[in-house]
Amino acid sequence: MGEFVRVEIEDGVATIRLGRPKMNVLNAQMQGEIAEAARQVSADDDVRAVVVYGGEKVFAAGADIKEMAELSYVTMSVRSERLQGFTKALAAVPKPVIAAITGYALGGGLEVALAADFRVAGEGARLGQPEIQLGIIPGAGGTQRLARLVGPARAKDLVFTGRHVKADEALAIGLVDRVVPDADVYAEALKLAERYKNGPAVALRAAKQAIDSGLDVDLDTGLEIERLQFSALFATEDQKIGMKSFVDEGPGKARFTGR
Ligand code: HXC
Repeated sequence: MGEFVRVEIEDGVATIRLGRPKMNVLNAQMQGEIAEAARQVSADDDVRAVVVYGGEKVFAAGADIKEMAELSYVTMSVRSERLQGFTKALAAVPKPVIAAITGYALGGGLEVALAADFRVAGEGARLGQPEIQLGIIPGAGGTQRLARLVGPARAKDLVFTGRHVKADEALAIGLVDRVVPDADVYAEALKLAERYKNGPAVALRAAKQAIDSGLDVDLDTGLEIERLQFSALFATEDQKIGMKSFVDEGPGKARFTGR
């Protein structure tokens, strides 16, 4: 268990809890701990869905500017691979991942949220990629995942200006999927996660992989990824259970095993 990142598992849902006073600022150690937490929940078959939560006040105010301020080009060019590594590890979790955002999700903090599948935000949340104001650009996936999520023009608006987006605008542009009162953010994210905990885990993994990989390739290659994943699912117990249950009992009654 890390100093700044804890993994709490309850009833099939893991919470990756960020905790570094005051703003969950992501120093190098914390980035490593997020990567480690992502690998842990990926490997644990009992974990069926994941929530990433920064606590009641703040999601994460970005990478640690004080730590980065004096870095040279040479140091950063080596370190930048690791910098992308922690959000890559999170994006690669083969299960549904939901970011529960209260307060600020800025810079590297927003990039953590972008590596999730869904984002629930509190009414007081503020999201942005303010790196331009530091004379840099997003470095943990922000130029890529943001553009894929909200489109290139909106991503450029946010990245060129560095402005903070409030929850209602974030919802309108698809940057977050749901806005709830601040106090309800974590409970709402858990509720979304719980939807998946008795689901067909192998099919959910295949669906996530097909959609995410497909976004990076041409349509024919994407369709081929889908075709292979689709046929592979006929080797699972859950495909047999799901279809038999439909035939015998009607839709939505299947009791999946996750195998
Ligand atoms: C280091 C930070 C920090 C950060 C806040 N703090 N954000 N320290 N790095 N990213 C520190 C402040 O220095 C201050 O420390 C304390 O947290 C509280 O912050 P305040 O500014 O006093 O609070 P407030 O006025 O409420 O403003 C909050 C804020 C602002 C809007 C979040 O702090 C802010 O703009 N922070 C920077 C956000 C940012 O630029 N993020 C992108 C970083 S670059 P003291 O000791 O004075 O109490 C990045 C690159 C990603 O993320 C690369 C890949 C990972």
